[in-house]
Parts: sequence; structure tokens; C-alpha cells
Amino acid sequence: MLIKKDKSIRKFGDHPLLSALVIQLLGTLAAGSLLMILFRTPPSDPLSIAALQGACTLLVAWLLKSPGWWLPIHLTFLPLMVLATRLALPPWVWLAGFTLLLLVFWRTNSSRVPLYLTNPSSSNAILHLLPTTPCRIIDLGCGDGALLRHLARARPDCFFVGIEHAPLTWFWAWFFSRRLDNVSIRRGDFWTHSLTNYTLVYAFLSPAPMSRLWAKAQAEMSPGACLISNSFAIPETAPHFSTDVPDRRHTRLHVYLPAG
Ligand SMILES: C[S@@+](CC[C@H](N)C(=O)[O-])C[C@H]1O[C@@H](n2cnc3c(N)ncnc32)[C@H](O)[C@@H]1O
Repeated sequence: MLIKKDKSIRKFGDHPLLSALVIQLLGTLAAGSLLMILFRTPPSDPLSIAALQGACTLLVAWLLKSPGWWLPIHLTFLPLMVLATRLALPPWVWLAGFTLLLLVFWRTNSSRVPLYLTNPSSSNAILHLLPTTPCRIIDLGCGDGALLRHLARARPDCFFVGIEHAPLTWFWAWFFSRRLDNVSIRRGDFWTHSLTNYTLVYAFLSPAPMSRLWAKAQAEMSPGACLISNSFAIPETAPHFSTDVPDRRHTRLHVYLPAG
């Protein structure tokens, strides 16, 4: 019974957008009920109603054990929407903003890997982890490609591949890497790309895909090839070693040998 309950909670949490929508609807329902019970004539100011909806939604999110960082989003979502409508911006501004976010945070709802970039200190630490002999390196979800360009300039004897599925980020990475002969930026889904021919696979993703990535790496990578994960460790698998980067966010690079 307990296991069943746990599983259903995990399934719900596996779909963040669906969870958020359900929580917002429940919060709206609770706020509507409160308004009917407390007031004969409900307040006419939309911002007060939105604030009440935000408070109810916050409570629902907390009761359903939403991750902490969702709570301020639930609290402020509707009030901010009401305030935004007061800006009276032309409709194309909203469409442009939405399109820009879509092109950068492409399918983040299913991949659960947003865009954030490897910082210069980590790039230097990764440079020191590269094999001393010529080899092929891949960055899974290469973002703006800055890491690969840095490594490619420092190691002209190696070949660097970056795969990115977000259209705008991919274009940025491709455009600024086009003059480097030892960099290839490809648009696509790294889950469908074989890791067989790489000596080093780099990933800076999120906790969500790490178990799946480990299974893929074990199935495809060659003996001696290493997988470096920035910040996110593979659950229940001890790394070959980890190294701390001297930066402000205390980055830790985990180095694995998936095929031994
Ligand atoms: C945290 S960022 C890391 C960017 C870059 N590797 C770096 O370290 O600076 C992760 C990137 O992976 C991309 N991504 C997530 N899932 C992907 C997938 N299945 N295929 C290709 N790219 C993906 C995201 O769009 C995002 O740009």
C-alpha cells in the first residue's frame, strides 16, 4: 500500500508541468470556495483575487510536497499574470518572449534539463582531465558550445562533438564554432547518438536523467573511455574519482569509467 502510494507520488512528480497545472487548478478551486464562503459580494479587484489564489495554491503545493523551488512560483504565478496585463504591452511582445524561451528551453518539460553553462574554472579543470593523446570528445547537450570552443583551441589534436536540441542554442553554438576545424556541432537528441567512438563523454545535465545516462554509457562506451558529469552524480554508483573545482559554486566533477 505504502509502496503503491510512493510510486504514484513519484509518477506525479515525473511530470512537472502536469503537476503544476493540477496544483494551480486545486488552488483556484480552494480560493473560489473561500470567496463564496467568506464574501456575499466577492472583491472586484482582480489582484486581490489573484493574491488569494496564490496563497491557496501555495498551501496546496506545500501539502502535496512540491519541491521547495516550486512554492514561490505557485504563490506568484497568477498575481504576476494580473500585474503583467496592466503593462498593456502589445500582444506581439508576449508572443516574442514565449518564442524566445521556447527556442532556448526546448522540451525542458520532458528532458528536465534546462540551460546553464559550464563556468571558466570548470572548463579549465576539464581541460586537465583530457587524455594526453589525440582523442574524440562529446558534450551531451552542448548549450552555447563555449566549453567545446575553449577545449578545441587548447587541444587542436583532439576532435570535439557537441549535440544540442534547442534550436536557438544550437544555432549559437554552431555559428560561433564554424571556423574551428576540430569542432562539430550537431542538432539533435543525444539519446539517439551512439557513444561508442568517444574517449571522453561530458555531461552537465540534472539529477533527472543520470540513471538513464549511466545505462546508455555502460551499453555503448568502450573500455577505458570516461564519462565526466558536472555536479550531478550517478545514483548508487561510486565514481572512479571526483575533483573539486575552485569556484564560487563549489562545482564537483564526477569521473566514471562505465566500461571499466
Ligand atoms: C545544463 S546545459 C549544459 C550546456 C553545456 N554542456 C555546458 O556545459 O555549458 C544542458 C543542455 O542540454 C540540452 N539538452 C537537454 N536534453 C537534451 C537532449 N536530449 N539532446 C540534446 N540536447 C539536450 C539543453 O537544451 C541544454 O542546452
